[in-house]
Amino acid sequence: MLIYNAKQLLTLAGGPQRGRHLGDLGLIPEGAILIRDGVVQAYGPSQDMLEWYPKEPRFNAGGKVVMPGLVDPHTHLIFMGNRALEFEMRLEGKSYQEIMAAGGGIVNTVRMTRDASLEELVAAARPRAEGMLRYGTTTAEAKTGYGLTQSSELLQLQAILKLDQECTLELVPTYLAAHAIPKEFTHDPQGYTELVVEKMLPDLQLWWKRTVPNRPLPFVDVFCEVGAFTLEQSRQILVKAKELGFPLKIHADEFENLGGTSLAVRLGATSADHLVKTSSADIQALGVSDTVAVSLTPTPFGLGHSEFTPAQEIIAANGILAIASDLNPGTAWCESMQFVIALSCRYLKITVAQAIAAATINAAAAIGRADQIGSLEPGKQADLLVLSVDDYRNLGYKFGGNLVQRVMKRGKWVVENK
Ligand code: NIG
Ligand code: FE
Repeated sequence: MLIYNAKQLLTLAGGPQRGRHLGDLGLIPEGAILIRDGVVQAYGPSQDMLEWYPKEPRFNAGGKVVMPGLVDPHTHLIFMGNRALEFEMRLEGKSYQEIMAAGGGIVNTVRMTRDASLEELVAAARPRAEGMLRYGTTTAEAKTGYGLTQSSELLQLQAILKLDQECTLELVPTYLAAHAIPKEFTHDPQGYTELVVEKMLPDLQLWWKRTVPNRPLPFVDVFCEVGAFTLEQSRQILVKAKELGFPLKIHADEFENLGGTSLAVRLGATSADHLVKTSSADIQALGVSDTVAVSLTPTPFGLGHSEFTPAQEIIAANGILAIASDLNPGTAWCESMQFVIALSCRYLKITVAQAIAAATINAAAAIGRADQIGSLEPGKQADLLVLSVDDYRNLGYKFGGNLVQRVMKRGKWVVENK
């Protein structure tokens, strides 16, 4: 199929964008793109492409923007229930950490989630996955982390794999048994850490190879934070995961600077996420590494905080900046990467072009998929959006609605928003 008459075709060609290179949209005015067998074949000016491929079935983009599908590289998609009550407590003046210390927070969702069946987990997450797709997210990372026992964590992984099969939204799984200290271990966090290291991770590796031998291993992630896992405990977990061959992620510097970002860099993690309280030394380390810095703008926003990721410093240090929703029931119930773009432009002080690159090719790099998705280049998956506007700058500028008119996943139209 030849998609022609795109006022702006954003290719994002050329790979992940470091430092000051962030924001190169690879924009082709009056562009066209050729898709065959779910894969991008070629692109160029509409006039030339129509001439070169006269027999190809055609789709008229109507003079609008055509761009890669959005990639959401950090979500907690799998959970039951909600924490609207905690939101209200925060509005009345309690902090997230106070609520967590009083037995609320992540373990509250764990209580609602850990006994759910596979069917219940999938049924709760499916509408969220479908909502994300309608808002233009064509691939998302999805974490476990609301079970905190091996059987419940593996069930959440199964839910991710099942949703990936059943839904159009493509999912990239992450194992996050180290999301919180489960209540059984409240007085023995080191005991839980050792359980994760000595038993749960090796068992996960065997389970994965038995269950889905042809899929690459999932990411292993840790919440490195006061009240969750210390730097040393995070190190123990990530070192073991690395030994077992898992690619790594970390939640670091959300509330305190513990050194998690530099740890991630030292271990060659694929990404380090949150990065609000990140130190200059950590940022310098990021800048000379391939670890992607993932800013989760909806999280401080969702918490009503005013401090965000020091994105300008990360860019100045030559880091690779990506943005994500952090979709979760505690801090940021956000299914729209368009809204993430709107927040990121304002609070990270980045341009719309930079936010688009951070939400496509760099987001793909943050989940180890930059060779398959995140840009429209020959050989890559045909995951793309047709917007309802003719200038990409409308993304982020107009917010709260949906500027996505059509979504294509692997060469097929899967969403048509009226
Ligand atoms: O990324 N920080 C840890 N995890 C989530 C919050 C999860 C929750 O509160 O349920 C986050 O913000
Ligand atoms: Fe998170």
